[in-house]
Amino acid sequence: MAKTKTVFYCTECGNETPKWQGRCQACGAWNTIVERPAAQESRKKSVSSYAGTAFRRPRPLAEVEAADELRFHTGMAELDRVLGGGAVKGSLVLVGGAPGIGKSTLMLQICDNLCQFAKVLYVSGEESERQIKLRAQRLGIAGSGLSLYSETSLEDILTAVEEQKPDILIVDSIQTIYNTASTSSPGSVAQVKECTMALMQLAKGEGITVFVVGHINKEGSLAGPKVLEHIVDCVLHFEGDEHNSYRILRAEKNRFGATNEIGVFEMGDKGLVEVPNPSEALLSGRPKDTPGSCVTCVMEGVRPVLAEIQALVTPSAYGNSRRSSNGFDYNRAVMLAAVLEKRGGLTLSNCDFYVNVIGGLTVNEPAADLSLIVALASSFRDKPVPYDLAAIGEVGLTGELRAVHALGQRLSEVQRLGFTKCLVPARGSGKLSVPDGLSLIRITNIREAIAALI
Ligand code: TYD
Ligand code: MG
Repeated sequence: MAKTKTVFYCTECGNETPKWQGRCQACGAWNTIVERPAAQESRKKSVSSYAGTAFRRPRPLAEVEAADELRFHTGMAELDRVLGGGAVKGSLVLVGGAPGIGKSTLMLQICDNLCQFAKVLYVSGEESERQIKLRAQRLGIAGSGLSLYSETSLEDILTAVEEQKPDILIVDSIQTIYNTASTSSPGSVAQVKECTMALMQLAKGEGITVFVVGHINKEGSLAGPKVLEHIVDCVLHFEGDEHNSYRILRAEKNRFGATNEIGVFEMGDKGLVEVPNPSEALLSGRPKDTPGSCVTCVMEGVRPVLAEIQALVTPSAYGNSRRSSNGFDYNRAVMLAAVLEKRGGLTLSNCDFYVNVIGGLTVNEPAADLSLIVALASSFRDKPVPYDLAAIGEVGLTGELRAVHALGQRLSEVQRLGFTKCLVPARGSGKLSVPDGLSLIRITNIREAIAALI
């Protein structure tokens, strides 16, 4: 009897090796290498042959029609914005997020709009058709042109696609789909990768737009970490925290648009509702006359969004200071606290501090530095920051204020939401046309900021 050929692969990153190792050389994870029989070439072929992989000749650039990139609107402006102005026909979009964040809900809601002008097939490997119907009823989705298919076998899904010829295919979730011709277990990296490849061929070969839902593993990356990101056209991350109804959709990769756009939604009892005015939503419920809170304006793509940065400074109990940060880069927060101590003259070294950005927003722009400095100083001195004041500026290690880009746009947003004062870096704000009703406090270093406010 012929010996079955086996290969070893890493369950974390999918890297294949000819022999077993304790540590994966590709991703460095320990104890993740497992053995499986090598997939036979002829079997592998049977899947890809569904997706029309007939040989096509290379074409000169001039002969490729520009209309190849046809976009359509999903009916949700926030999703369209993140996709770069609508979904591209024949593209594969991966929507990732933690369990229960609302991925299935978002997909079902866009189906309602899409099936008005396109044939949509919704494949679920997680829920039965009855469950999906119940959810659709609850969300008030009629879905006349929508077909549901509760299936996990890739072959059956591809057969259904061949029969039904949908324009849009939704697969929820990629981790539940498996290829019976492959010997690895459902949900393993090799399976997820193979199934995504087959769906990609379907998208490119047949011009079907495919939305694929993917779960996030405990490290916060899409299961099958980096392998999927290379294959697909767009990677969207759906984030938010469980205690908050706001959900933020962020593009991590987009072959058809910018990646720094965000879409904001709110989860309610009728599903996800778009939040076209995130600044207003993120600032709602802001405490008045309370120390340790300061508003700043960050750019999310081309859109300015106001964010409330909070800080709590308390004396350390046992000599060991505790610091933590939620929504703000931890190392940057610690660095800014050190700058505040050395250049601002506030003794924070024997204090604990906690930093939080309200609304589940993640702020990673240096323009938010000044607001954190102000919030920390305000909490340390127990003195509130004026309610109608915002602070924008990057802080350097010598405590100096650095200019930020798009200051004009940020100030318009600050003024639009009713703020009357704004701390800005003196450099780069001289020739700016200031919106009516907003007065600028121009400063050159953090000492001036503390002297002006606290
Ligand atoms: P779901 O879309 O199933 O999450 P995922 O597919 O990302 O795992 O969303 C489930 C959560 O959303 C669940 O905790 C309940 C909540 N939810 C609402 O609050 N309102 C609704 O109308 C729906 C459909 C779900
Ligand atoms: Mg789901």
